[in-house]
Amino acid sequence: MHSRPSLATIALLLGLVALTSSAPAATMAPFTPPGGLGMDSIPVYAPMSEFDFQSLNLALNQEWIELDLFHHGLAQFSVEEFEAAGLDAEDRFLIQYMAEQELGHATALMNMLGPSAAKPCKYIYPFTDVRSFVDFCQKLTRFGESGVYGFLEHLDSRAAANILLQSITTEARQQMIFRQFEGLFPMPEWFVPSITQSMAWTLLSPFLQHCPSENPRIEWQLFPPLTVTNNPTPNQENLSPGISNNVTALSFPGRELLLSWGSPGKVTGYDGRYTTNTTAGRAHFVGWISQLNNITYTPLTNVIGSRGRTIQPGGNIFGNGTAPVINGTMYLVITDAEVFVTPANISMLNPHIVAGPAVYQSG
Ligand SMILES: *[C@@H]1O[C@H](CO)[C@@H](O)[C@H](O)[C@H]1NC(C)=O
Ligand SMILES: *[C@@H]1O[C@H](CO)[C@@H](O)[C@H](O)[C@H]1NC(C)=O
Ligand SMILES: *[C@@H]1O[C@H](CO)[C@@H](O)[C@H](O)[C@H]1NC(C)=O
Ligand SMILES: *[C@@H]1O[C@H](CO)[C@@H](O)[C@H](O)[C@H]1NC(C)=O
Ligand SMILES: *[C@@H]1O[C@H](CO)[C@@H](O)[C@H](O)[C@H]1NC(C)=O
Ligand SMILES: *[C@@H]1O[C@H](CO)[C@@H](O)[C@H](O)[C@H]1NC(C)=O
Repeated sequence: MHSRPSLATIALLLGLVALTSSAPAATMAPFTPPGGLGMDSIPVYAPMSEFDFQSLNLALNQEWIELDLFHHGLAQFSVEEFEAAGLDAEDRFLIQYMAEQELGHATALMNMLGPSAAKPCKYIYPFTDVRSFVDFCQKLTRFGESGVYGFLEHLDSRAAANILLQSITTEARQQMIFRQFEGLFPMPEWFVPSITQSMAWTLLSPFLQHCPSENPRIEWQLFPPLTVTNNPTPNQENLSPGISNNVTALSFPGRELLLSWGSPGKVTGYDGRYTTNTTAGRAHFVGWISQLNNITYTPLTNVIGSRGRTIQPGGNIFGNGTAPVINGTMYLVITDAEVFVTPANISMLNPHIVAGPAVYQSG
């Protein structure tokens, strides 16, 4: 078990506060309308449940890889290679500065988690040049961001959620800056979608190679991996860093996607300590997780073994003339059913996931 501030003490304290504050609002502070969560209790900047601990610890693992990743990219590539990709000394300093921000975010999480907080791991990266490094940063910070949005509103400790939110808004800016470094349109979405902890862990786990044995086991589900064989890659020749570029759409409604996925029961994760798992039935649909999380489903067709196809849907989030549902750096999952979920109950989708998510570079 994890050693951390006594939950019993915290619960007792909160109970006492709740009891004393259930009296008529005679002592209500002026200019304070009634209502709101935690408005008259003492903030607890620590996990108040196993759900909190596991969620915050997953977020800490995400912060650690970001810290390592930004340093790693700066060390791996020469000044000439960065300059050839259009990134000058001031741009490189910004990446260095982002690494320092990650140290701050990791420290804040460690302080909240206490002595059993995860320590940094050894990582494995898929990039070979500056542009693919920047693209990887843009994708990794996006699923870090979405992974937190998925649980932030469900944390028992509203105070911990407050601190985490203050770090994740910075991470959202990093994500946009990496898109700008890549020469993409900086933010082609109106809303950034949320994903569940299990989805975030599924996306993160392939890059963790070895972790200290005392790191708390990450209890979220690891779904079988999903690959978009023909995922669009930004046209590297024509794009150069800029605040905003009118990039020709990377994908379009009607585009056929080629998908392949893994099976459950496969050893995965760092040090071979985890196995992939699904509780879903047969693969029937592709769920497109984007924008407001009103998940759009398309039929999965041409299924042969663990390969299939689907067609990119159209549609706009609030009808004609508003943002397309599918754009930007978003997610695909394979499901057994068309489950209607919204941002605050997306975890109801977990039992229906056959594989995924995959990051889809739709724009
Ligand atoms: C950029 O794209 C927008 C929307 O399609 C268009 O209205 C605008 O004219 C474009 N600007 C340039 C400089 O290409
Ligand atoms: C995605 O957004 C960009 C920027 O607004 C736009 O140029 C592109 O056409 C959009 N893609 C789709 C598929 O609508
Ligand atoms: C998946 O997890 C469930 C629930 O823990 C377990 O019963 C099942 O055996 C697991 N499946 C595989 C393939 O590991
Ligand atoms: C979800 O999106 C579909 C397709 O755009 C739309 O028909 C439906 O009304 C939306 N539902 C909600 C609750 O927004
Ligand atoms: C959206 O535009 C299309 C094409 O002009 C039209 O057929 C459709 O009725 C419009 N839908 C709404 C909800 O206005
Ligand atoms: C998720 O929440 C929406 C309301 O926002 C509800 O209509 C839907 O049935 C819920 N989904 C599930 C699987 O419970």
